[in-house]
Amino acid sequence: MNIQKLTSLAKSAKTRSIVSLFDQKERINDFSLSTAHLYLDYSKQNINEVELNGLIEIAEDVGLSESITHQFDGHKINNTEGRSVLHTVLRAPQVVKQQVLGETLAKEVEAAEQQMAKIVEGVQKGVITGHTGQRFTDVLAIGIGGSYYGVKVSLSALEHYRDLSLAVHVIANVDGGALEEKLKKLNVETTLVVVISKTFTTQETMLNAKAVKQWMLSGAPEVSPTVNSLSTVIDKQWFAVSSNLEAVKTFGINEKHILPMWDWVGGRFSLWSAVGLPLALAIGNDNFSKLKQGAYEMDMHFKSTDFKDNMPVIMALLGIWNRNALEYPTLAILPYAHSLRALPGYLQQTDMESNGKSVSKSGDKLSWLTAPVVFGQEGTNGQHAFMQLMHQSDDIIPTDFIVALKGRSQYVENHKVLVANCFAQSEALMQGKTLAQVKRELEKCNLSADEISQIAPHKTMKGNTPSNTLVMELLAPETMGALLALYEHKIFVQGVLWQVNSFDQWGVELGKQLGTQILSAMNGVKDDSLSASSQSLVAKFLARV
Ligand code: F6P
Repeated sequence: MNIQKLTSLAKSAKTRSIVSLFDQKERINDFSLSTAHLYLDYSKQNINEVELNGLIEIAEDVGLSESITHQFDGHKINNTEGRSVLHTVLRAPQVVKQQVLGETLAKEVEAAEQQMAKIVEGVQKGVITGHTGQRFTDVLAIGIGGSYYGVKVSLSALEHYRDLSLAVHVIANVDGGALEEKLKKLNVETTLVVVISKTFTTQETMLNAKAVKQWMLSGAPEVSPTVNSLSTVIDKQWFAVSSNLEAVKTFGINEKHILPMWDWVGGRFSLWSAVGLPLALAIGNDNFSKLKQGAYEMDMHFKSTDFKDNMPVIMALLGIWNRNALEYPTLAILPYAHSLRALPGYLQQTDMESNGKSVSKSGDKLSWLTAPVVFGQEGTNGQHAFMQLMHQSDDIIPTDFIVALKGRSQYVENHKVLVANCFAQSEALMQGKTLAQVKRELEKCNLSADEISQIAPHKTMKGNTPSNTLVMELLAPETMGALLALYEHKIFVQGVLWQVNSFDQWGVELGKQLGTQILSAMNGVKDDSLSASSQSLVAKFLARV
């Protein structure tokens, strides 16, 4: 990307107040967009029309249109693993699947969709039951990373669409405390287990699956002396989503209960595949289809809209503007919705695992920074956690606010206050409060000039913090699908401009390798290749009482 052009574009923005940009009366119309159930207000970003057009030229110059076409057409854009990136096909009509995947693979995908829908229908109708014939009351999904986050964020986002007779739980962390917390709520005979793992080798998932299998086998009542309930309970109640069929069968899961994962679907983009089974069990086939439909609408918008009116492209370019031109290192994701409380965590993986790199696709060291540090939590909680820093530290933290105009709960006044706080925070981050303004306010408080001059500096707010506000009417399946697809495409566009491969994750390998090495040291195998610090920590563990 033309970093020189970007830097020179940003000269005046670095000393400009965002508020001054609103002298242009039409700003809100020119710096907002609507599509696929979402409205984006980006007028509080520190950017004017000339600068935005310059960003669009930079995107055009790197051939963004061609990159978008290549992705949707199945080019092997994941170059370090020689793979296509086609999660978008999973939410497209069958005719598109046939065009992109070819007849055979399209049929395989359709078969997997039908298999998944049948499982959901069978469980909901009580046709698919536990090994003692009882209806399932609970689903336990075991997975981590992309085999967990997409399901988790959507389960909480769409909790109002869930079938109340079937509780769906997700377990990811290898910490036994997390597992015990789940298992104590579950009944062996009425729990359906879904193990989600593309590789079926991930340490945490395999350990958790083994522990749950042991829990179930030891708790499974004998169905009949002749029938070995050990195999029956796993045979009947366990399902797996994986690309490693042999490993799944070796684990002992019924071959007919295995749903596929393809190498052209990245883990963190896999919700749209059979990875979404626990979600579909929770919200039903129709709502899962609506989720995919919403994502597909965003796909079509992304593929066919000029960059200046293209929501994912605009969000991506604003992110590049804040990260590389204005040099802000972080991004806050602040959903003002309890239902979206898992969104910041989900986007940490989707964004930082995709673009947290410093080497280009061709292996050259990059001369620019890439993914920001993404953090956040649901509003209004964040206002009582980190908003102090956002308002009064010298760090400027660009923010994405996300809010639904209509709430789900009966507490209408609470929702109005929630929305008011969301709007107020973006206004406060932009407006700030100068020393003069603080002093004028304090003069009305019967304080002496001395008292005012002492306290006033502590009450000033820097302001000039840029933000997007994403607004939806209501958080429904199709809106959630569009929202997730929006961020997927935003991150894809940023990867193109940063020239990184957004679809591998070699950075997680060293931690896994050292984890195995340190585990054996903790089993007593001396390892002098470890640092003195790690060796002493291992010794501490071994000396534990
Ligand atoms: O976080 C690393 C990672 O490889 C993710 O990309 C992936 O979603 C997760 O681990 C789980 O991998 P698997 O689905 O193979 O268990």
